[in-house]
Amino acid sequence: MIIDLKEKSGFSLKLDLDKPELVFGNGMVSSPVSIRTIGQMQAVLLDKDIREPQELYYMYRGVHNFLDQNALESRQLRYDVTMIKPFCLGREFMKTAGHYHPGDFGELYEVVSGECLCMLQKPNAQDYRVIEEVIVVEAIAGEKIVIPPGFGHILINPCKHYLVTANWVSRRFESSYELYKKAGGAAYFITKSQEELISPRLGINMGIIHNSHYKEAADISFAQPVKQIKKFGLSDSSPMYNLIKEDIDKLDFLNRGLDYEYEDIFVIAKR
Ligand SMILES: [Fe+2]
Repeated sequence: MIIDLKEKSGFSLKLDLDKPELVFGNGMVSSPVSIRTIGQMQAVLLDKDIREPQELYYMYRGVHNFLDQNALESRQLRYDVTMIKPFCLGREFMKTAGHYHPGDFGELYEVVSGECLCMLQKPNAQDYRVIEEVIVVEAIAGEKIVIPPGFGHILINPCKHYLVTANWVSRRFESSYELYKKAGGAAYFITKSQEELISPRLGINMGIIHNSHYKEAADISFAQPVKQIKKFGLSDSSPMYNLIKEDIDKLDFLNRGLDYEYEDIFVIAKR
């Protein structure tokens, strides 16, 4: 079965569920796919002894139309697409490994297909085992998630369908996975549950287990993205790849993170 994702991605993109793989067309190119396996994820799992599924998610980095290559290089930007399987990792929902960015670099995500929880956490500057702020953003297809500078992040797929996300990010740094590995994952594990906290927005039940490696962690604030962020050129009805043609200056915040304010990027839900 093949799902056409062009409407949300803004370019020729198909999800081939049988392989599984993403298929880029019409002048779009990508680096060879990089596959995150269960062996590479062991350190950040709640249930460290699980062995299935073998392949968890698929990263297509440096996706672009060949006509856009010069603009991307001159702006020091990269656009990636990630395909995350459904299913669980033991008690947990499927998730990515988690990483921090060095310096003041943020990131911009878009849900292309499926539904997503994005857990952001801000560590204390002196002690990474003290987490001062935790935000779980619940997002659906078309919505954009701005990661402010200083926040580590993981993506969680709590649904029965593949999750496809895209991200704009600066080319000027490498992500750092070490602190998530040392800590054995994010500040909290989000688990499948019949009885505990329900996400009304996504219609899922979920449990929350504190990761005991952290000495302190703030309570989770649940949030959803705002529909439009004009200063970053974002709207939930317009694919963010289009910014490269329409208004690439709006992505300046990805290379000059501290020159911008981030108070208005989420609506915090009352629980
Ligand atoms: Fe990132």
